[in-house]
Amino acid sequence: MVRLVPMNEAEFRESFERTVARRAADSVHRGVWTKERATEAARVELETFLPRGRESPGHHFAKVIDESNGKQVGEVWYFVREEGGKIRFWVDWIWTDPQERRRGYATAVFQRLSHEAAKLGAERMGLYVFLDNPHAISLYTKLGFSAQVMAMTKPVG
Ligand SMILES: CC(C)(COP(=O)(O)OP(=O)(O)OC[C@H]1O[C@@H](n2cnc3c(N)ncnc32)[C@H](O)[C@@H]1OP(=O)(O)O)[C@@H](O)C(=O)NCCC(=O)NCCS
Repeated sequence: MVRLVPMNEAEFRESFERTVARRAADSVHRGVWTKERATEAARVELETFLPRGRESPGHHFAKVIDESNGKQVGEVWYFVREEGGKIRFWVDWIWTDPQERRRGYATAVFQRLSHEAAKLGAERMGLYVFLDNPHAISLYTKLGFSAQVMAMTKPVG
């Protein structure tokens, strides 16, 4: 149903800038960063995470294409690396076009990624999701993901 096509440099740059903007906005909304400094903080964080941009080892940046009509319906970022004798397969980001949601595209992407992960010798696939994203949590739960870690915060002072 879907094909994952690697982004070219221009597509990656656009996706990167959208990610900076989204990460900044989310972090302001969650009270983590100030509005004034959030964009800079998001950029530093992402550049640290992806020191060689699209060429960062193990990282993959793909467009999600509907095989039936060739239309781009989303994007996905993931990485694969050997860690402690195991293959770590991690989905950093998945997004589907708002007009195309609830049509099974994200589910199809995860099916593809599951096959790839298994083929590469990974035993599991992981991702992070915020608790204020119930749609994504619903998707992941349906796909068989379960929570392994909980980050906790509390106000002080
Ligand atoms: C989360 C997201 C990727 C889901 O994409 P999608 O293509 O709509 O997902 P699917 O059509 O495969 O949905 C499969 C299931 O997920 C759950 N789900 C997805 N969107 C949902 C919504 N808006 N409300 C409730 N459940 C939802 C449902 O169980 C759905 O099955 P159903 O349609 O048969 O009820 C999409 O909403 C998105 O891009 N959100 C913004 C980006 C984001 O939050 N990414 C995740 C970051 S961790």
